Amino acid sequence: MNVMVIGGGGREHAIAWCLTKSPRVREIFCVPGNAGTLGIATNLDADVSDHSALIDLVEKHNIDLTVVGPEVPLCAGIVDDFHKAGLRIVGPSAAAARIEGDKAYAKKIMKAAHVPTAEARVFERIEDAKLYVEAREHGFVVKASGLAAGKGVFVCQDCEQGLLAVEQIMGDRAFGKAGDKIIVEELLKGQELSVFALVEGRNIYMLATAQDHKAIGDGDVGPNTGGMGAYSPAPIATPSIMTIVERDILVPLIDAMNNDGSPYRGILYAGLMLTPGGPKVLEFNCRFGDPEAQAVLMRLESDVLDIFEALADGDISTLDIRWNEKPAVCVVMTAKGYPGDYEKGQTIEGLESVDAIEDVQVFQAGTRQIEQFIVSSGGRVLGVTAMGHDIGEAKRRAYEAVEKVHFNGAYYRRDIADKAIQAASSKN
Ligand code: AMP
Ligand code: GLY
Repeated sequence: MNVMVIGGGGREHAIAWCLTKSPRVREIFCVPGNAGTLGIATNLDADVSDHSALIDLVEKHNIDLTVVGPEVPLCAGIVDDFHKAGLRIVGPSAAAARIEGDKAYAKKIMKAAHVPTAEARVFERIEDAKLYVEAREHGFVVKASGLAAGKGVFVCQDCEQGLLAVEQIMGDRAFGKAGDKIIVEELLKGQELSVFALVEGRNIYMLATAQDHKAIGDGDVGPNTGGMGAYSPAPIATPSIMTIVERDILVPLIDAMNNDGSPYRGILYAGLMLTPGGPKVLEFNCRFGDPEAQAVLMRLESDVLDIFEALADGDISTLDIRWNEKPAVCVVMTAKGYPGDYEKGQTIEGLESVDAIEDVQVFQAGTRQIEQFIVSSGGRVLGVTAMGHDIGEAKRRAYEAVEKVHFNGAYYRRDIADKAIQAASSKN
């Protein structure tokens, strides 16, 4: 089969890398891909928001199946348009993708389905949001309702920070239309966990767990990013927690979406806070997490094409997915300035010295090939991912690989996986 992957980040490089291991895959096409996918796939240059241009590519290159990485095309209805054209594609419809693209809708459906989540109020007028925030005494969280590339969430300790957040989202319209509605919600305390599941109608298949590191700085300080690193599996996701997540969160949500006329089909990502009162939803996403996907897919032993075909139009209940027992750690290297304005065009060196190391993969994100050079072209540049016999070894091997790769201004957190390592050492 010929497979097309939509997107150009580390997650899409990891998806394409898994596809190279499938004996049934003939050719892989990435739109737009990056310098990392160039080596294993054909990168096609097209506007991802132009669905008819993508449909033309499917016909031109005899593509049998399309896999969509990021949320923006899913929320824009790429799956609906492909289905109308009679094409096979993996991902939820636009109606179902609202679970990520419209946080006000997600809150409404969670409330109706009694899914545990932070108490929240939705505002459409800046004055109302400000009045509400001014009356808050404790910490709270202000979120743009629409898509903001992971940057539209402000954890506020006092009303001054809250007013700034409201002003930025609704006053300055820093995230455009995504800020038409604002959500102000209860601040939840605990450890975060990313849970991924395949969903097809009422069937749910839980995937390996992962933990992200959203803040820019070591010790989870500073502004949120798209994700600075991840590890899989997450030791805090014990079997009893996972049973609760499936029974009390995923099943009622999926039922409610079915009843609402927006059945879900695709990868569902639940961002959770493990609070003393049990797991609560921070957000749902309609896709794989990035960088979590890099750590999770590194451990996938089954044929990823079987999974994608079952998700596109088959039956996920017959899947039997095998994972490598070894944990994986992904350390994201970013450009200077990220998550604010960042530098581009820095030459990346040392990638070839990592190529031959077993159980290490550098998944590329914001990179471009210019002549014989690979240069940075985005905020998150590389996801250096390694497996080890235990989480400590996986971390050590990932950082050893990071040390071999260089570009001017490269930044990375040094504490990726530390929480898991502490959890493992306190158990022993
Ligand atoms: P979201 O995009 O909604 O997952 O938010 C991004 C990040 O903001 C989360 O991963 C958390 O670190 C933080 N966050 C979001 N909502 C809350 C909340 N209600 N309480 C505490 N932290 C939150
Ligand atoms: N790593 C967080 C996300 O993909 O949304």
